[in-house]
Amino acid sequence: MLLGLAALVFHCKNGKKESEYFNPQVLATHDNGEHFVGSKTCLECHGDIYNAHINTAHYNSGAIADSSNIKGSFKEGSNILDLKAVEFQMLGDGEYFYQHTKIKNRSTEIPPSKFDIVIGSGVRGQSYLSWEKDELYQLQVSYYTPTDSWVNSPGYPTYYDEPRPIRDACLKCHITYAKGLEPSSKGNRFDQDQMIYGIDCERCHGASAKHVVYHRENPEATAAKFTLKIEDLPRQQRLDLCAQCHSGLRSIVLKGDAFSYATGEDLSQYSKNVDNGSPGQKLDVHGNQYGLLTSSECFKQTATMDCSTCHDPHRKQRGNATYFNSKCISCHKEGETVCSNTGTDKYIMANNCITCHMPTTPSQAMMVQLDQDSLETSFNIRTHLIGIYEQELWRD
Ligand code: HEC
Ligand code: HEC
Ligand code: HEC
Ligand code: HEC
Ligand code: HEC
Ligand code: HEC
Ligand code: HEC
Repeated sequence: MLLGLAALVFHCKNGKKESEYFNPQVLATHDNGEHFVGSKTCLECHGDIYNAHINTAHYNSGAIADSSNIKGSFKEGSNILDLKAVEFQMLGDGEYFYQHTKIKNRSTEIPPSKFDIVIGSGVRGQSYLSWEKDELYQLQVSYYTPTDSWVNSPGYPTYYDEPRPIRDACLKCHITYAKGLEPSSKGNRFDQDQMIYGIDCERCHGASAKHVVYHRENPEATAAKFTLKIEDLPRQQRLDLCAQCHSGLRSIVLKGDAFSYATGEDLSQYSKNVDNGSPGQKLDVHGNQYGLLTSSECFKQTATMDCSTCHDPHRKQRGNATYFNSKCISCHKEGETVCSNTGTDKYIMANNCITCHMPTTPSQAMMVQLDQDSLETSFNIRTHLIGIYEQELWRD
């Protein structure tokens, strides 16, 4: 009874807090009517996953720009990008950051553009978006990680170009949710109050308000309610979840908009690639890991392989060769087909299966012009066509 009384007192004192607890703030509403509540609400019950997830490239792939996530430098001496006919100077006061544009040999004044949104966690680079009222544009400067410097955005000319409107094309893969203000996906106007940045829990697990409310109201319940059990989905649906962003640009929208698809549905009804996603399509940063993996013998000759066989979507695993090798060896072990390479070479056999069987190749899409004099440069990306390659291609 005493406990009950204490609870009642607590309830009255914290009436507002408590009702917020049982009715978490809705951040946005998906086409299917479900409400997004954001990953901070998952923290209390899924602490381990939450704390690992905030360090992933996914979570950091799209964010409101601030001093902690813009990788490029605003310090004098390294804050200039000098191109043939235009010079950009990046200036910030610690809170707000701007791209200033000076067209050479012309007096035209171009107003500064603000860094509002960062696209890319910075593994290879970042691009930046700027709001003009509710319209979204891409800045001409990008950041390139291998050289730690400002560069001309991929595909831009070396003179000043009109800011490019950002339709849902970048947002659909780099953030969780955006609500377009125009009926078709052709517009670049979005509701700034319904943007959910980063690739967050609810992009993969679906808008989860009901799940959160149920488990907060029923703290004794141990079986998950109002959430999809991804592990139990058929393989194609599990693959589709990753394929929405990892199977090429899928620029042809067949149904709804770029954010309408929800995990568990049939992705092919929502979008497709211009070339039907043929796996022969050039492998690249915006490439087709899905198409390449599904063309591999490892995939074709097993019933279970999917992206989660080798990737834990909640953890940062880049560079963890020992972990990935253990995944190969979990199938290619004694009694099964093991490596038949007998040659001796600089790569230690048991130590790095992917050096020879998933080698890297230089990216074409992310080739960038550094400045007016230096040549274009590029970085390597890894193929998901697991196979036997010529020795010349063996690379880390
Ligand atoms: C008040 C507690 C609570 C909150 C808040 C909560 N969950 Fe859960 N969730 C649970 C419980 C209990 C289970 C079942 C036991 C388990 O799998 O951990 C569960 C299970 C899950 C599962 C696994 C389903 C399965 O069986 O494969 C997913 C996915 C999930 N939650 C996602 C989320 C997401 C996303 C959020 C935040 C938007 C969230 N949860 C917030 C309590 C909570
Ligand atoms: C909403 C789109 C989206 C979905 C869904 C998605 N990804 Fe990604 N993924 C991305 C983007 C964008 C990046 C690049 C992040 C960055 O560095 O900015 C990325 C990066 C990665 C990386 C590289 C991580 C690193 O540390 O550099 C892996 C591995 C990956 N994704 C695997 C998966 C798997 C497995 C799934 C399915 C469970 C999945 N992704 C679902 C968009 C997505
Ligand atoms: C179809 C999904 C998709 C679309 C559309 C897309 N991206 Fe990406 N983007 C990805 C994935 C996946 C990766 C990471 C691939 C990898 O790690 O190999 C990535 C990587 C990047 C990176 C490098 C990130 C890093 O941390 O190194 C930048 C920058 C980037 N994209 C910018 C853009 C911009 C700008 C647009 C719009 C013009 C765009 N992307 C459209 C999926 C997409
Ligand atoms: C890129 C997609 C993606 C994101 C982002 C993501 N998950 Fe998951 N999650 C998955 C997949 C796929 C599985 C099933 C894994 C498997 O098949 O082994 C899963 C499984 C789970 C499970 C059940 C199994 C387990 O590991 O306990 C829980 C709980 C869960 N996720 C919670 C979360 C929470 C909370 C967040 C955000 C902090 C989150 N997930 C972010 C893709 C994702
Ligand atoms: C057989 C194991 C395996 C499977 C299955 C697998 N991957 Fe990978 N993936 C890897 C390895 C190994 C790397 C390289 C990791 C590193 O560089 O540290 C990688 C890297 C990546 C990267 C970053 C690529 C780059 O060059 O930056 C992305 C994105 C990715 N995987 C997505 C996927 C998706 C999507 C699926 C499912 C269609 C998938 N992977 C299935 C083993 C696998
Ligand atoms: C889920 C189990 C599984 C995993 C994980 C797996 N493989 Fe396989 N792999 C197979 C099967 C099955 C075959 C085809 C039949 C055979 O040779 O046993 C195969 C075939 C191969 C082949 C021969 C390909 C060809 O075209 O002839 C190579 C090379 C290979 N795997 C390397 C790897 C590497 C490297 C990894 C880790 C990145 C890996 N595999 C992960 C199951 C797997
Ligand atoms: C130094 C490069 C190199 C490394 C490292 C390497 N392999 Fe191989 N692997 C090869 C070559 C070359 C072949 C083809 C040999 C031949 O002509 O039969 C091969 C063949 C295979 C095959 C096909 C076997 C068959 O009988 O069809 C599998 C499976 C395989 N490797 C798995 C692995 C795994 C798993 C690892 C990591 C433990 C690994 N390899 C490490 C170069 C390598």
